[in-house]
Amino acid sequence: CGIVGYTGREAALDVVIEGLERLEYRGYDSAGVTVLADGRLATEKRAGKLAVLRKRLAEDPLPAATMGIGHTRWATHGGPTDANAHPHLDDAQRVAVVHNGIIENFAQLRAEIAERGHTLRSETDTEVVAHLLGEAYEGDLAEAMRAVCRRLDGAFTLVAVHADAPDVVVGARRNSPLVVGRGEGENFLASDVAAFIAYTREAIELGQDQVVELRRDGVTVTNFDGSPAEVREYHVDWDASAAEKGGYDYFMLKEIAEQPKAVADTLLGRIGTDGRLTLDELRMPASVLREVDKVVIVACGTAFHAGLIAKYVIEHWTRVPCEVEVASEFRYRDPIMNDRTLVIAISQSGETMDTLMAVRHAREQGAKVLAICNTNGSTIPRESDAVLYTHAGPEVAVASTKAFLTQLVACYLVALYLGQARGGRRDNEILTVIAQIGDAPKQVEQVLGTMEPVRALARSLADTHAVLFLGRHVGFPVALEGALKLKELAYMHAEGFAAGELKHGPIALIDDGLPVVVVVPSPRGRSILHDKIVSNIQEIRARGARTIVIAEEGDEAVVPYADHLVRIPATPTLLQPLVSTVPLQVFACELATAKGHEVDQPRNLAKSVTVE
Ligand code: G6P
Repeated sequence: CGIVGYTGREAALDVVIEGLERLEYRGYDSAGVTVLADGRLATEKRAGKLAVLRKRLAEDPLPAATMGIGHTRWATHGGPTDANAHPHLDDAQRVAVVHNGIIENFAQLRAEIAERGHTLRSETDTEVVAHLLGEAYEGDLAEAMRAVCRRLDGAFTLVAVHADAPDVVVGARRNSPLVVGRGEGENFLASDVAAFIAYTREAIELGQDQVVELRRDGVTVTNFDGSPAEVREYHVDWDASAAEKGGYDYFMLKEIAEQPKAVADTLLGRIGTDGRLTLDELRMPASVLREVDKVVIVACGTAFHAGLIAKYVIEHWTRVPCEVEVASEFRYRDPIMNDRTLVIAISQSGETMDTLMAVRHAREQGAKVLAICNTNGSTIPRESDAVLYTHAGPEVAVASTKAFLTQLVACYLVALYLGQARGGRRDNEILTVIAQIGDAPKQVEQVLGTMEPVRALARSLADTHAVLFLGRHVGFPVALEGALKLKELAYMHAEGFAAGELKHGPIALIDDGLPVVVVVPSPRGRSILHDKIVSNIQEIRARGARTIVIAEEGDEAVVPYADHLVRIPATPTLLQPLVSTVPLQVFACELATAKGHEVDQPRNLAKSVTVE
């Protein structure tokens, strides 16, 4: 969910709605706002996207105010209805609260509150907080918030206002993101700096179990027990224009186009003049890396696919065994780790709860955790031993594109660095790859310049019901990513398979005219891989599939079997995902658009899922 709080001199409603617009990627089931004017709270909330709320506010405006809070929701407790939308109020309508996360002891608290005679108007866990705050308030909202938070289990960000406390907005944070924006005579609270970046780039990162009291002229942060808290102030190094569409119809199109720069920025300053990697920023000594005897990668969604590719390169370049697991499964199977295990957590947002919980579990077992993350100061890097930031800039579209390519770059860098630190017989190969990876931005640019036929093909498939994706080796996770993009955006049945596994079952799905996308490895180098996949293409074509073949320039062997041929520049096989993913992103985006779907905010999804 997205949360905004404001107190200052401006029209609070405008600031809050504008902030919510920038956070809508975090959830868009429903939206709501509360402002405080003349000692009374005024609230408007609606199921549906922010546009529904905005329309309602245009018809029936709230009173002018200089402080307020707002919320866009991704439903957990209770479906997306007007009643379940935030803010939630107490019986006396004196407290309003918005919330992100899940309060685990909610059933017990709800029963307690009902027993004390409160009327519950929604099915949410948030409403209980509003009633508890109303009861606890004795003139100091921050104190009431601390008292209530001490009673809550689970993960939450809470932001509240009280009708008797003009100019005070209070926030609380446990396991869920919340940042403060410091302005002149105005201050902001939000789930993400994007919400207030148009007003200030000075931010304060809140720690675990902290409460912040925001006033026009000051910010006070305390721990849940009331003691003063230490906080970190930082300057945001991108501006509002980075979080705007900049002439593109959708964020996703803009973010796909930004990939050459995102990849270049992620490489920047990390390759030394001697052709070796300089990742001192990791602050993980080479001695630790030399000791590592197992790597475990944890991540979710698209980041998980980056992890699957990382396994191939880590094992090949370092000879250290590597496992990859979806973060939500990891801690529940009692994984084997010790202080020589390096856990790599990959997360664009740095806030995905499943991944965060995997990180915590790994550290409890004594493993070292390295985060690969795109969001400065977010929870996962804060709780890890080391972090390598990707420099994709803000990614707003729910389906990840540029963050994925930069995660790949970061995985390559970590693998090469680990190989470099450990030395050994792959040293020369490592130096060669470090030199080759510098070409990636140019090659991605080249692919982007040739996408018109892919878009035309996608449009022609708008009525198709299913698409399969095949790949081998690093092309297999690319196939999975291509299928995920299509599911996310076009709501189609799309599946990725290891091409060799096809004959063990999925080949039964092949029917006359079924589009099958095949990612073909380079014919140079490991040519056996290439030959095998050419046979696989023939097998599916013989059974009626319509083949869409993604192959390197100069690869003539595939030509007779390709109904549609998409060319990508020649790259070493291990680096090929950096270029072969791009046509799949463009394909999914265009197909979804042709179906009339809004690609930036696919149904049921949210960009940052901060519940487990
Ligand atoms: C959500 C998003 C996915 C994303 C995944 C992991 O499910 O919809 O696009 O890949 O979370 O997000 P993270 O921020 O941890 O990379």
